[in-house]
Amino acid sequence: MKVTVIGTGYVGLTTGICLAYIGHEVVCADTNESKVRQLRDGHIPIYEYGLPEMLAASGERIRFTAQCRQAVGTADIVILAVGTPAKAEGAPELAYLYAAMETVLDGIAEKQTPTLVVNKSTVPVGTGDKLAAMAASRGISHRVEIASNPEFLRQGSAMPDTLYPERIVAGGSPTAQAALKELYGPLLRQDFSPPALAPRPPGLASVPFFAVDLKSAELGKYAANAFLAMKISFINEMANLCDRVGADVSEIAGILGSDSRIGKAFLQAGIGYGGSCFPKDTKALHHIAGTSGYDFKLLSSVIEVNRFQKYVLVGKLRSALGALDGRRVTILGLTFKPETDDMREAPSLPIIEALLAEGACVTAHDPVGLPAAKALLPAEAKTTTNLDEALQDADAAVLVTEWPVYLNYGGRTYRQRMRQPIFVDGRNALPVSDRGWLDYYGVGMRALPSA
Ligand code: UGA
Repeated sequence: MKVTVIGTGYVGLTTGICLAYIGHEVVCADTNESKVRQLRDGHIPIYEYGLPEMLAASGERIRFTAQCRQAVGTADIVILAVGTPAKAEGAPELAYLYAAMETVLDGIAEKQTPTLVVNKSTVPVGTGDKLAAMAASRGISHRVEIASNPEFLRQGSAMPDTLYPERIVAGGSPTAQAALKELYGPLLRQDFSPPALAPRPPGLASVPFFAVDLKSAELGKYAANAFLAMKISFINEMANLCDRVGADVSEIAGILGSDSRIGKAFLQAGIGYGGSCFPKDTKALHHIAGTSGYDFKLLSSVIEVNRFQKYVLVGKLRSALGALDGRRVTILGLTFKPETDDMREAPSLPIIEALLAEGACVTAHDPVGLPAAKALLPAEAKTTTNLDEALQDADAAVLVTEWPVYLNYGGRTYRQRMRQPIFVDGRNALPVSDRGWLDYYGVGMRALPSA
């Protein structure tokens, strides 16, 4: 099929590259010309496993342009994958989506064949109908179908998540649903031949395909993210309780997760969720519910628990060190999670601000995120790309992002480098065998004095 993707962020770029890889003819369009130039040179502007290699493997089947209207060309399917960032009151900003749709409609007006416009951006219920109304207002609705096809990929594993999705959701008319089934056909087949970079996970079942109405598809995406965020806030509240009663939250997570009705995933307690999706989507869903006259009380608590959770570490440091004034604290990890350079809503930033406000001397390290982080960090925070140097003579280390380099460093090495072996683990991720070398504080775990 001929596919045009508007927007080359995480979702648009990964989708475009994977669709080209499975055999479609793809044009990726973005108004950002310098990004388009980089992509034409084969350079991927985000840190994402496997994408450069997949792009190279897609050869002539993919091209990049800054001319979005012309990019519509003779496409059978146009995918909208532009940002919907949160506005101050939590509502998603749809201006970019509507602007992209106007441009796409300009392009469609110039062609005679029908076009399926597929929205992948996370949008409030009813947005698909508004896109359809935009086509109708131009008198071309007979040539435009609208579909909602929400995306469930995670940063850091965007490519494998796209090739092996847990489900595909196709919202729209039966014609739109059928076109999406054809688009993703190779991924739905068990005999799909995967790239060497992302072999088929063993025991992977066939991919469920949800052919639903537009509104259910739009709301389903928010429901999925809000539910995962709720699991995280739930286990974090359990962790805070464990801290008070002397229980161990990793044991609680094990007990909970072994019940298949609950599931093991997203029960890792720590400093809460960050990133470009959960914080934005939980607030957006809360706002959408509010504007529909529904007070989504559970979601308010999920958001509030997460807002508070990052500061749990600061309290732990304060009780371990006495006062923070003048103490040298090393921050291990800045990005919102490992395997990405994304700093959006990263818990590291408010944690560092809180430590500086109490007079701590902060040195931050991240194996990948420093270039992106530097513009966001307060001037008083020092940064280094050398982990040994970051830890030298530290009074305490705080694990904020569980990059493997921190988990493999070794408890003994931490102890040797630091002035005091105080280790506050915001992800409960340091190997258990290393903890005995350190004055170890997890979240929802009994403090462990070093031997
Ligand atoms: C999330 C969803 O997982 C994807 O399914 C969805 O497609 C995506 O949002 C989106 O809407 O675009 P992502 O934000 O990339 O993906 O990252 P996650 O791996 O879900 O992690 C989100 C945050 O939750 C991270 O800060 C992570 O550290 C935190 N987390 C995750 C926990 O604190 N505990 C856990 O058990 C799991």
